[in-house]
Amino acid sequence: NEGALWGGRFAGGPADALAALSKSTHFDWRLARYDIAGSRAHARVLHRAGLLDDGELAGMLDALDRLDADVASGAYTPAASDEDVHGSLERGLIERAGAHLGGKLRAGRSRNDQVATLGRMFLRDHAKIVARGVLATVDALVAQAEAHPRAAMPGRTHLQHAQPVLLSHHLLAHAWALVRDVQRLADWDKRAAVSPYGSGALAGSSLGLDPEAIAADLGFDSAVHNSIDGTASRDVFAEFAWVAAMIGVDLSRVSEEIILWATKEFSFVTLDDAYSTGSSIMPQKKNPDVAELARGKAGRLIGDLTGLLATLKGLPLAYNRDLQEDKEPVFDAADTLELLLPAVSGMIATLTFNTERMAALAPQGFALATDIAEWLVREGVPFREAHELSGAAVKKAESRGVELWDLTDEEYAAISPSLTPEVRSVLSTEGSLASRSAQGGTAPSAVERQLEALRAQLADA
Ligand code: ARG
Repeated sequence: NEGALWGGRFAGGPADALAALSKSTHFDWRLARYDIAGSRAHARVLHRAGLLDDGELAGMLDALDRLDADVASGAYTPAASDEDVHGSLERGLIERAGAHLGGKLRAGRSRNDQVATLGRMFLRDHAKIVARGVLATVDALVAQAEAHPRAAMPGRTHLQHAQPVLLSHHLLAHAWALVRDVQRLADWDKRAAVSPYGSGALAGSSLGLDPEAIAADLGFDSAVHNSIDGTASRDVFAEFAWVAAMIGVDLSRVSEEIILWATKEFSFVTLDDAYSTGSSIMPQKKNPDVAELARGKAGRLIGDLTGLLATLKGLPLAYNRDLQEDKEPVFDAADTLELLLPAVSGMIATLTFNTERMAALAPQGFALATDIAEWLVREGVPFREAHELSGAAVKKAESRGVELWDLTDEEYAAISPSLTPEVRSVLSTEGSLASRSAQGGTAPSAVERQLEALRAQLADA
């Protein structure tokens, strides 16, 4: 058939079952405009190598422009007989440029170097879109932190009350993880910005074509130094899938907390109506579906990564058709995040925090016991002993069913003469927070400096 890129040595066409299995136009058509960009660049190096004359180059570029416009408008789509995007576009080119001129473009290139290059181009563009979405989520977290500079909440370990922290400190902890994800995408781009075009099927091109010229034409920093690596490696795809999965996991962790915070039991946040859903049977329900879908999509993103790694494991060099399976996982990873990030950032930006309830709970559950121990240390008591004395105070309070600040001076004195009434100076959330003022701590002054450092990294991101 016309779209076929091979057939000379075969007596007959492929079985229907093979053609159906082999076909990839239903997912690789997304690479069509990158394929045409690659073809323009390839035509120019063919011209420079003397394999196309001036008129042929002009005719080729004109036909590619018309094909590009038809692809963009939807006037040109893959035919049922087309195997993949590359074959289909060669058919479209020949329809526009004629078989003689159109048939010259494939010289010195292979679908193997093409598809490896086009995938990188696609992912580099989508990494920028994903990074913007992550930054919008960071912005939403930062805005909520700035809106609640002094609000306290229970800090937890093992999901149990541990020590009071600022809500802003907690929100920014999520922001830092996401900032690192943006930095990872930028760092990944250095490795993605290397073009495999010119690697040919696996061994390079014999026609005097300049891979560096094509690389520059297509916005890459350079061309690969090894044509086998260029056509056979997919670690750059897998690394993209890993960063995407990491973003999914980071979004899932903040989402899990929002789900908990929105429960009756916590009552820390109220979701905006625009970011909540109802129930078809229970009229009262207001559900955190955005956060739940974020948690669910993290599983899907992890699946994209592990599926791709499983495809790559055990592949001998160089190209193997297994590699056709490289595209759907990374396309899915980009699509998933591009769908998810605007919903998550919108949900976070519109959360209402019940700061009174959070602050009231912050010191409860003996969350100031560490402050008592550290106060004793400042009074000269060895920490080992201070830990025991504070623990004894917790035991006493627990047995009476009260909090640490409800114990009397006499009760403290009975535990140890070191526990003078001055210990009350640290028996408040404000005192506890303010004392943690070193870099990285939860004191309001430290969190202000933290915000400045975060903003500085965002300015570079
Ligand atoms: N469609 C293939 C892919 O996505 C590229 C074609 C390479 N095919 C081949 N027989 N060498 O990987």
